[in-house]
Amino acid sequence: MIYVTRRAEFSASHYYHNPALSPDENRRLFGKCNNPHGHGHNYTLEVTVAGEVDPVTGMVLDLKDLKQLLESEVMELMDHRFLNEEVPVFRTVIPTTENIAIEIWRRLAPKLTLGQLHRIRLYETPDLYVDYYGD
Ligand code: NI
Repeated sequence: MIYVTRRAEFSASHYYHNPALSPDENRRLFGKCNNPHGHGHNYTLEVTVAGEVDPVTGMVLDLKDLKQLLESEVMELMDHRFLNEEVPVFRTVIPTTENIAIEIWRRLAPKLTLGQLHRIRLYETPDLYVDYYGD
């Protein structure tokens, strides 16, 4: 098994709010992140695909295809978006780094035809990232 990783960057804004909680509880729990006008992040995404090297191509998968998949499934949906309002899933799911990583997994995993999605790593800042392995 070999692991191939592609990195991509996108910018998006969000805020944290749980409608099941009172305004006070939201403020206490999320602090500044509860401001409904949102704030921005420059996210770095790393998508790792695991597979075997095809003896004919010498590759696990065509990296151009992976780049295109990231464009159509992640960038078009999330880049320069206000996640809470413009990405349907985040109307009901809080767009934390964790939940964004899970959503990216859900969108990419079924579309990979060669190799298997192994990991989504999503950096919210250079010092902070989450890893998701699909379970
Ligand atoms: Ni934030």
